[in-house]
Amino acid sequence: MLETSNKILSPFQLKHLPLKNRAVVAPMSRVSTKGDGIPTKSMIEYYNRFAEGGFSLIITEGTYTDQIYSQAYPNQPGLTNELQIEGWRPLVSSVKQSGSSIILQLMHAGSLTQHLTDTRSASDVQPLRSMLSGYSEKQGIFPQPHAMNLNEIEDVKLGFVETAKRAELIGFDGVEVHAANGYLLDQFLTDYTNRREDCYGGSLLNRVRLGSEIIHDIKRKVSKDFIVGVRLSQGKVNDFDYLWPGGIDDGDVIFKAIQQAGVDYIHFASEGLGFDHGCLTRSGESLPKLASSLTQLPIIANGGLETRSEATRILNDGHGDLISLGKGALANPDWPRKIAAGESTKPFEPNYFANGVSL
Ligand SMILES: Cc1cc2nc3c(=O)[nH]c(=O)nc-3n(C[C@H](O)[C@H](O)[C@H](O)COP(=O)(O)O)c2cc1C
Repeated sequence: MLETSNKILSPFQLKHLPLKNRAVVAPMSRVSTKGDGIPTKSMIEYYNRFAEGGFSLIITEGTYTDQIYSQAYPNQPGLTNELQIEGWRPLVSSVKQSGSSIILQLMHAGSLTQHLTDTRSASDVQPLRSMLSGYSEKQGIFPQPHAMNLNEIEDVKLGFVETAKRAELIGFDGVEVHAANGYLLDQFLTDYTNRREDCYGGSLLNRVRLGSEIIHDIKRKVSKDFIVGVRLSQGKVNDFDYLWPGGIDDGDVIFKAIQQAGVDYIHFASEGLGFDHGCLTRSGESLPKLASSLTQLPIIANGGLETRSEATRILNDGHGDLISLGKGALANPDWPRKIAAGESTKPFEPNYFANGVSL
């Protein structure tokens, strides 16, 4: 039976961008280029399946922003040169022709790179735990990074801004600044990875400064309809259970700072153990809901939302205007179509990761 009354299937306006439903594909690194960072034909097919399956918006995998220190994984895509530009172009137009909007996620790995050995971060703090399996042949502990000097910080900013400009040129609807999951901007944000004593360290306001400056600088260089979002999280790929130590007080500072920088939406990530695990504070308050009420910005909620009931709960209880699916979308590239048709959805299985994008 066709279902149209559920909020998941209702339209939403993301700034000027009309979205036909609330279902978004979450950014997922699939490490499937040939080492040159150029999107391949199979990536076009991979992204197109989500568009044909009815997702209103696709956020791409984290894409590196400069050829210096940003790359996380050997086969990660980049958007830093002509060949990469030409690789993304047909991918973007094919997704749009299939009826979805598409946003590029801009990612700088900082010290969590499995590609480089000479690495940079906010401070010279050795990352916790070890490299992710399946993303690179290189495994084991991460090298100790060097603390970035102010020139290197300027290079980071320039990388984000120039890549956003390239994304606009080739037809993306926007960019998402990856400030979540333990990568560079989260290394600046987090107290134990940022021991700086300059204007990028110390208070939380100082630690959110780099992310805010990047958003601000991108906004100044792109046209006014081009969307600039941000991704935030408490947990990190190398520290799953981390929660913001100040709870909603931290949320208050962070959300207001990035709103002032001009961000168009906030995407809150919760990797691994569901929405509540990563999105609630220690005392149970919902950070995405707080972001929504403080800023009135569109919010994308995330984390184990692939069942109809959980997705509906999150939307109806005001934790987000949109929901993003990671593993649920891998298992069901046509998830919105299935929801509309009242069909059951497939559970995710770990072997979906086995072959890069060729699922
Ligand atoms: C294979 C894989 C790759 C991921 N890569 C990224 C990434 O590039 N950028 C990002 O912000 N999150 C990344 N994530 C996190 C997802 O966007 C999402 O937050 C997480 O999977 C939780 O959502 P889910 O429960 O719907 O899977 C990745 C997750 C998976 C499973």
